[in-house]
Amino acid sequence: MQVAREKSSFDVEAHCAETATHPNFPIEVFRHPTSWPRLDKWLPTARQNALALFPDKVLHEPCSWHSLLGKRLLILSDGDLATQFLKRPSKKAGLSNLHKRILSPAMGDGIIVNDGPEWKTLRRAGLKAASHLKDRTNGRENSILQKHIDEWSIAEEFNLLDRIVPLSIHLLAHRLFGFDGDLPASMILHAIDQHRKIAEDYGFLDAVDAPQWITSDRTTRAKMALAPIRDFIETEISEAQLKNQQLFSQEITVDFIINMMSGYESVAITSTWLLAHIGNEPSLKRWLMAPNISEDEFKDRLTKAIKETLRLYPPLPFIFRKAKENIKLGGFVIGKGTTVCVSPYLIHHNTLNWSEASSFDPSRFERSDNNYSCFLPYGVGARKCIGQNIGNELIFQLVKSVLRNGDLKLSKSDLPKPRAGISLRPSEPIYTKYLANAGE
Ligand code: HEM
Repeated sequence: MQVAREKSSFDVEAHCAETATHPNFPIEVFRHPTSWPRLDKWLPTARQNALALFPDKVLHEPCSWHSLLGKRLLILSDGDLATQFLKRPSKKAGLSNLHKRILSPAMGDGIIVNDGPEWKTLRRAGLKAASHLKDRTNGRENSILQKHIDEWSIAEEFNLLDRIVPLSIHLLAHRLFGFDGDLPASMILHAIDQHRKIAEDYGFLDAVDAPQWITSDRTTRAKMALAPIRDFIETEISEAQLKNQQLFSQEITVDFIINMMSGYESVAITSTWLLAHIGNEPSLKRWLMAPNISEDEFKDRLTKAIKETLRLYPPLPFIFRKAKENIKLGGFVIGKGTTVCVSPYLIHHNTLNWSEASSFDPSRFERSDNNYSCFLPYGVGARKCIGQNIGNELIFQLVKSVLRNGDLKLSKSDLPKPRAGISLRPSEPIYTKYLANAGE
């Protein structure tokens, strides 16, 4: 039996041949269909649903190699390996071009697209700000939620995500800069939607470091699409500062706030998937809303249901990194320059990590045999999400308010499949009616 040894110059084929027989690490070379990586075949699939790019076997194996556009892409779908990898210092496992090139038109010069010392400063300031945000609710969040939910039409069918997104944006804007008014939601949503379309058109090319000339045009278009939202946030922050609400420290700029605001998407998608499951599964609703349970028990049940939603539908399905030097992992070496995809989606759906991986079962979070390194919706390590607590709290409040104020009736009994772009959204609208509680 051969065991992989560190090499100075990395040869993927030779490496895979060596490690294929390692007992603890059965890497197999994944050979893509012959039509790949031709762009005309590959790109439409990536645009439609990036999950379709991966063969089923990545859901049953710890890792596999992909080859795209002649570049090597290592997909880690084992939680322990992924955790070990993400815990490496950022100078070894740094940001990939995906972050820099897709996200920078939207994220400017904020924490999400930065690396190195600048990122460290922003991260420190961001963690400090996040720890204060808990005290900023002033009891207003419930009334913001109530006001919006009261406006939901009873008779009309609506797309659930479309209704949840403005709620999520309002809640987060309130937390972040004390914003209390009415957001020009349609303008903001249009801008975000435009940006998503533009970014997703080329996103997966960036992930594998496609040449800049293929993708440069969309940077200009995306910047234009995002201009209104940047202007809006800039005005709001200066107004908040004028009102003497010195919200953030010096390092925190408009770009930083925009980076934090982008957390609205994950909050909205998670709340939508969970409400859709509740609307679709009467037994889940009976369990959550049982009349005789205490408030603590309700909190416990809803928290488990949120975790299960984040497991099945991690809002950020892929985290990309680039190995900046050779990195030893388990029994093998990831060669310098390799793009590594740690996929919360694949890890959460991998049958090696979770039993009955594709079924929605909040009670799995009661079991002691769970391996929590296989649950990473917020990422792991140095760049782990700094909005984890806020995200959990906002999803909790949002879902609780919708459930307690009325009844969701989904128009179709089947939920759509998830579609992966930059985030994991429903592949089709989830049409819903909302019957408000009588007399409230
Ligand atoms: C369901 C809710 C959310 C989920 C699942 C989520 C997930 C994630 C993930 C997977 C990352 C990337 C980790 C990595 O690259 O290794 C991330 C980064 C980040 N998230 Fe969240 N997020 C959520 C909500 C939020 C909220 C509400 C905020 C702001 C208040 C926020 C702010 C950030 C920031 C600033 C980063 C960048 C951190 C860095 O690069 O150092 N997130 N998030």
